[in-house]
Amino acid sequence: MKKIGMFGYGTVGRGFFGLMQRNGDVVSKNAGVELEVCRVFARREFPGDPVEPFLTHRVEDLWEDDSIDIIVEVLAGVEPAYQWTKQALLAGKSVVTSNKAVVAAHGAELISIARQKGVSYLFEGSVGGAIPVLRTVTHGLISDHISEIWGILNGTTNYILTEMKDKGAAFDDVLKEAQRRGYAEADPTADVEGHDACRKLAILSSLAFGAMANYEEIHTEGISAITKEDIAYGKAMGCDIKLLASAKRTETGISALVAPSFVPKNHPLAAVQGVMNAVFIKGDMSGETMYYGPGAGEFPTASAVASDIVAAATGVETYPGLAVEDHLVVLPRQKRKTKVFYRILVSDVEEAKKTCNEVLDVVQFVALEGVAGEIGVISGAQEEGVLGEKTNLLSKGKGIRQILSRIRMEE
Ligand code: HSE
Repeated sequence: MKKIGMFGYGTVGRGFFGLMQRNGDVVSKNAGVELEVCRVFARREFPGDPVEPFLTHRVEDLWEDDSIDIIVEVLAGVEPAYQWTKQALLAGKSVVTSNKAVVAAHGAELISIARQKGVSYLFEGSVGGAIPVLRTVTHGLISDHISEIWGILNGTTNYILTEMKDKGAAFDDVLKEAQRRGYAEADPTADVEGHDACRKLAILSSLAFGAMANYEEIHTEGISAITKEDIAYGKAMGCDIKLLASAKRTETGISALVAPSFVPKNHPLAAVQGVMNAVFIKGDMSGETMYYGPGAGEFPTASAVASDIVAAATGVETYPGLAVEDHLVVLPRQKRKTKVFYRILVSDVEEAKKTCNEVLDVVQFVALEGVAGEIGVISGAQEEGVLGEKTNLLSKGKGIRQILSRIRMEE
């Protein structure tokens, strides 16, 4: 018998507790050892909830209890989750978590402690919800040199972009619905500004490329500035907007980015709708593979946590291929090549087009039916640093009043 304690009883905590009530026998069977939740730390009371008999309001009860083998950390944010995880690992308990903020900020230290103590620190639930993508890069693709990762790693923003596209709904209304459904983080800024996807990309890149990626070095843009008009231009160009997280390995480091991008409707990632996540991986042996599933929600995330419980219960080492003392060089984005779509408010259409042709390597102009006073233009692929300078020139050019949007385009 292995006993499980829990830090937290929020959305994922309730999901995991409910999963163990419903499918605990399956989890125990697959672990080859009986597993049981015996103690749950939460600050509040939950009258009438099945968790009631297991509740404690004294967090030390979890690491001081010698009978507890594994702790599930399902709190939000870095503190106090980081300190409590450290206490638990130092007390010789395995910890499994869905808390990407802690893993991205303190993963290297916590993994080192787990290795020293001979216990596990596992975080499948921190990336891609139900998709076992960390296990895929560390086990399934164990013989590959992974060269590229492309992902939709945030369910909330994918849900928002899908609803805006399908229903013409306003950003704020869809965000409220995502929060009601339990997809969004406590502070939705982390979702809509891309910080959540950035942390997930750093975690995934670390495991895929074998050294630590610092999430603070990854250039990140969110979707809060995306408008209904941008989505309408996308429709006119046969594209959808997705918040893409990408990392490519080069000889000098990784080129990584989180940003909204137009992707053609026939691109495999364009088919990913609603709260679903997907990760596309290129390896030198496996070739191109793609993984798809619910990226948020109590039971999908709880299922990833449960898979780590089984791994911890069977004594799995903490990601042995990851060199926590080594750091990946994140290359400056200025050298990254991209095509860009501009939505431009004009004072004179013909003058503005002339300016675009002079400044940019124009691939195509796009017009929206029934919309006057503005144009859409797609530039050819250029280095981001060069495009920055050209955008500046464009904004001061003849016939141009204002650049309303600037969105990358993937092919
Ligand atoms: N807020 C996250 C998302 C939850 O929307 O993807 C899962 O990590």
